[in-house]
Amino acid sequence: MSAPTNSLRGRLITFEGGEGAGKSTQIRLLAGRLAQAGVEIAATREPGGSPRAERLREFLLSGRAAPLGALGEAVLFAAARIDHVDSLIEPALERGAFVLCDRFMDSTRAYQGAMGKADARMIALLEKVALGDLKPDLTIVLDLPAREGLARAARRRGTTTQPDRFEREEASFHEGLRDAFLDIASSEADRCCVVDALAPKEEVSQAIWRLVEARFLAPAARAQ
Ligand code: TMP
Repeated sequence: MSAPTNSLRGRLITFEGGEGAGKSTQIRLLAGRLAQAGVEIAATREPGGSPRAERLREFLLSGRAAPLGALGEAVLFAAARIDHVDSLIEPALERGAFVLCDRFMDSTRAYQGAMGKADARMIALLEKVALGDLKPDLTIVLDLPAREGLARAARRRGTTTQPDRFEREEASFHEGLRDAFLDIASSEADRCCVVDALAPKEEVSQAIWRLVEARFLAPAARAQ
């Protein structure tokens, strides 16, 4: 996917980061701007994005898969990803749509790999099994201190919803995640852009739009 041979093929843009970084808000704002530029959008998320993968999401986020260990959970995230890619992402890219995905393979690298301590070679193999040659064209890493993200996530949940399996992890896990995402971004700097998610959401959205416009939109679309 990194070098599309078919110019009509769409683009895969993934959003990554710790809890409460504002990924879904930013996906909504970017989708609005792209729609205005006349681009077809498919906004989706992981784990999930297809009916079968959503069932695996429920299982994973309930914590019922945690006894399998980080590698076992990674296998289930990969299984969900296979179904999501086959049933939604690939068909959308084939149609020429821009797929905006809330989390993708980097979340497995960060949560199950770096923080869960699953063997990095196994995580890389699973990535290959789930994705083959598919890679995001652009990954936006929304970066903010873990404490701020967790506070935002708690406000969003309110008092009636319980934290999920990963939100329940300790503060040190979430601080480590931040470093893990920054490490991924610096090791694949062509694909990944780090955006300061502490800024007001309009500023974050503008920064993301500038990146997407510069990379993917033809001058004609930019003039609109
Ligand atoms: P969220 O997208 O609503 O934040 O919830 C998804 C949770 O699942 C989040 O805590 C990150 C976690 N996750 C993994 O641990 N590995 C993965 O591969 C993915 C996609 C998500």
